[in-house]
Amino acid sequence: MSGALVVYFSYSHGNTKKIAERLASALGADIEPLLPLVPYEGTMDEVVAEGEREVNAKKSRPIKPLSLDPADYDLIAIGTPTWWYTMAPCVKSFFERYSLKGKTVIPFATNGGWPGRASKDMNDLSLGAKVVCPMQVRFDSGGGSRQITPEKDVETWIEDVVSLAKR
Ligand SMILES: Cc1cc2nc3c(=O)[nH]c(=O)nc-3n(C[C@H](O)[C@H](O)[C@H](O)COP(=O)(O)O)c2cc1C
Repeated sequence: MSGALVVYFSYSHGNTKKIAERLASALGADIEPLLPLVPYEGTMDEVVAEGEREVNAKKSRPIKPLSLDPADYDLIAIGTPTWWYTMAPCVKSFFERYSLKGKTVIPFATNGGWPGRASKDMNDLSLGAKVVCPMQVRFDSGGGSRQITPEKDVETWIEDVVSLAKR
């Protein structure tokens, strides 16, 4: 493979960012955050409600153009926090905006105990891609930053992705 890219959206505590950075470091991959064109504003409760409105309306939230071009990479890992049982609307926007045809895609999500359909929805939007090594990492149910998924499981997943990338 000619290169790996990790993209992620992270909002609440940097949980998804932390996992994305660990994966990128182990892979020696490039990494870039997905940023909303119009930032979320207000209290956490207001953002949670805004996220609910977007997800219920099946809306994506426009993101800033990436500085890296996903077309240049064979392997793309895409990370999202679970928002209302699916991927965050900014991550949906990434899938809509960038073609993943012919790529190897690794979807990963963090959650507070209710992963819902995030993995399935990311799989369904990876049109023409080969989806491998999907991962869910659970953090505490209060929406905090304490990791519940055993560290060993995260390490094993990262090792699996690294050995896949070497093939
Ligand atoms: C708008 C919003 C909706 C959420 N919906 C869910 C959910 O449906 N299921 C769940 O397990 N956690 C949910 N959470 C919790 C986050 O998925 C969890 O805290 C995640 O690890 C946050 O990642 P981050 O720190 O990278 O943003 C939600 C959080 C927010 C802000």
